Amino acid sequence: MNSPVMLGLNLNAPAFVKNANLIAWVADMAALCKPDTIYWCDGSDEEYERLCAQLVAAGTFKKLDPVKRPNSYLACSDPDDVARVEDRTFICSARKEEAGPTNNWTDPAEMRATLHPLFDGSMKGRTMYVVPFSMGPLGSPIAHIGIELSDSPYVAVNMKIMTRMGKAVYDVLGVDGEYVPCVHTVGAPLAAGQADVKWPCNKTKYIVHYPETREIWSFGSGYGGNALLGKKCFALRIASGMGKAAAGGDGGSPGWLAEHMLILGVTNPEGRKYHVAAAFPSACGKTNFAMLIPPAGFDGWKVTTIGDDIAWIKPQPDGTLRAINPEAGYFGVAPGTNTLTNPNCMASLDKNVIFTNVALTDDGDVWWEGMGDAPAHAIDWQGKDWTPQIARETGAKAAHANARFTVPAINNPVLDPAWDDPRGVVIDAFMFGGRRSTTVPLVTEARNWVEGVYMAATMGSETTAAAAGLQGVVRRDPFAMLPFIGYNMSDYFQHWLDLGKKLDVPGARLPRIFTTNWFRKGEDGKFVWPGYGENMRVLKWMIDRIEGKVAGKDHVFGVSPAYEEITWTGMDFSASQFNTVISIDKAAWQQELGLHTQLFNQLHYHLPAELEATRAQIEKRLAA
Ligand code: OXD
Ligand code: MN
Repeated sequence: MNSPVMLGLNLNAPAFVKNANLIAWVADMAALCKPDTIYWCDGSDEEYERLCAQLVAAGTFKKLDPVKRPNSYLACSDPDDVARVEDRTFICSARKEEAGPTNNWTDPAEMRATLHPLFDGSMKGRTMYVVPFSMGPLGSPIAHIGIELSDSPYVAVNMKIMTRMGKAVYDVLGVDGEYVPCVHTVGAPLAAGQADVKWPCNKTKYIVHYPETREIWSFGSGYGGNALLGKKCFALRIASGMGKAAAGGDGGSPGWLAEHMLILGVTNPEGRKYHVAAAFPSACGKTNFAMLIPPAGFDGWKVTTIGDDIAWIKPQPDGTLRAINPEAGYFGVAPGTNTLTNPNCMASLDKNVIFTNVALTDDGDVWWEGMGDAPAHAIDWQGKDWTPQIARETGAKAAHANARFTVPAINNPVLDPAWDDPRGVVIDAFMFGGRRSTTVPLVTEARNWVEGVYMAATMGSETTAAAAGLQGVVRRDPFAMLPFIGYNMSDYFQHWLDLGKKLDVPGARLPRIFTTNWFRKGEDGKFVWPGYGENMRVLKWMIDRIEGKVAGKDHVFGVSPAYEEITWTGMDFSASQFNTVISIDKAAWQQELGLHTQLFNQLHYHLPAELEATRAQIEKRLAA
C-alpha cells in the first residue's frame, strides 16, 4: 500500500497522540482513501464552532435565529439519505451461522474485496477527520474507546455531541490501549476544481461490521446511525459481540450486555431510588419514557434520565448489574415531540442543537409536524415552500418523518446526577415493551429470569408503515434488538440465560423483568391507555412489586396488577377500561403462541431449550 508520505500527504499527528498502532492505522486508511488533508479533532468548543461555521459556509448548515434557538443549526440531507439502511447493513463474521438468520451476512474476504475499490480514493478532494471518542464516561471500567475516520465534518460535530469526543480520549488510550476502528466515507470524491454539494453521499451504501476484528466500515451515507458509528454500529452491533465474547464457559465470567435500552432513575416519596433499563423497538417512545414527568397526585415521585437509547451493562463481583449510557447526547426523532408529549425534551431543545430534516420557519426557527401550531409559511426539509394549504392539498410534510435533533444530554432538565458516573448505576428492573393493539397486557412481571428472557425474546411490535399498507403487521423484535444484534440471535438468548444463571448466587439480587404494552386499542379502534406521563402508574406498580407491597395476579404467562393495585389518583379510569388493557384472551394467546413457534422455527439453530420449554408450559396453562 502507498504510504501517505509517498502521496505527499502529511499525517500531522499531534504530539498528544501517542498510540503507534493508531498512527499506523490512520496512515494506512489515508493511503487507501486518499483525502487531501487529515485533521485530528481535539473536541474543543472552539473546534466545534469552527467546523459549524465551515458547514454554514458550505451550505450544509443554516444557523438558526440566535435569540430563538441560540447556537443551533439546521441541516437538510439528500432525499436519498434520510434513515438507517437495514437492508444495506452487514455482519461479516467468519461463518454465516455466527451472524444468524436475522442479519445480512457476506463472507468477510468477499466483503473486503467489494469494499476495497469503493474506499480507494473515496475521500479525494476532502479532509479526513480523525475523531477520537469514548463510549461511556472517560476511563470508566464499563466504557470503551473508538476512533472514527470520516470525510464528513457533519459527522465530526455530531460526534462531539453524541459521545465524549476529543483529546482526553488519547490520554485514556495511552501508547498501547485498544480502540474500535471505524472508517466512514460519504463516498463522493471530488475531482480537482469540482464544486461540492450540500449533502454529499452515494446511492451505493454499505454499513459493514467485522465482529472478529471489531471493525466498522461505512460507505455512502452521511445520515444518523449509518454515519455516527459510535451509536448503533459500535455501541450495539460490535459491543453486543464483545459482551458475548467476554463470557467464559461454566463457572467463567458472565460477560456483559450491550442493549437497546433507555436507563432511568425513579425515586419514591420515601426517598428510595431504583434504576430501570427499558427496551422498546424504534418509534415506541423511549425518549418520552426516559424523560417522563409524574402526573398530578404523584407528589414526591421523581424520574430522572441516565440514557434514552443504549445501555452497557456489566456484572459486578457482588452480583449486581451496573449500567452506563455509552452516549453523551440524544439523537431523537423530532416529529410528534411537543410540550404535551415530552416537555422535558422540548426544554432540552432550547439551545446548542443540530436539527436535521425539519422545516425552517420565516423567523429563523424550526418546525415539525406535531410540534404545535403550524406556521403560515416555512421552507420544508427539501428546500421547498410549505404552507398549511399546500399540506392539505398535496399531503407535503414540512419535516421528514425521520427528522432528528442532536442535543447534548446536559441540556436535559431531568438529567440524573449519576448519568456520567464511571461506576454506572445498579439496575433493579428490566422492561420490554412493544406496540400491540391486542393480546399483550399493559404490564406483566416474569416469575423468574427464564420467563423474562422468554418475554423479551418473543416480543413483537406492530409496524407503523401505513403508506406501504403494512399498518398493524406484527414484526417480532426480540429484545428490541432485531436490527442491532451483532451475532446470532439464538446465541444472544443463550447469553442472557447463562448470565442469569451465573449471577443467581446466594445474596445476589437479579433485576426483575417486566413486559409492558401502552398500545392496546378498544373496539372503537382508539388507544385505551393514555400513555406518556400516565405510564408513571405502571412504573409505580413495578417499584411496589420490587418493594413487596403488591401481590399481583398470576396468569398464564406472568403476574399482572389487580385494578386496586394501581394508584388512580388524578385519573378517571374504570375497572372495565382497565380490563380492556390488562385482560388475557385465550384464543388470542393461542394464536400468539403459534407466532412464537414460527419465530423459534426461524431461530432453531442454537435456540435454547429453556425457551421452547417455557413456550410449552404457557401452552399447557392455556389449555388447563
Ligand atoms: C434509533 C433507532 O434511531 O432505534 O434510535 O432507530
Ligand atoms: Mn434506538
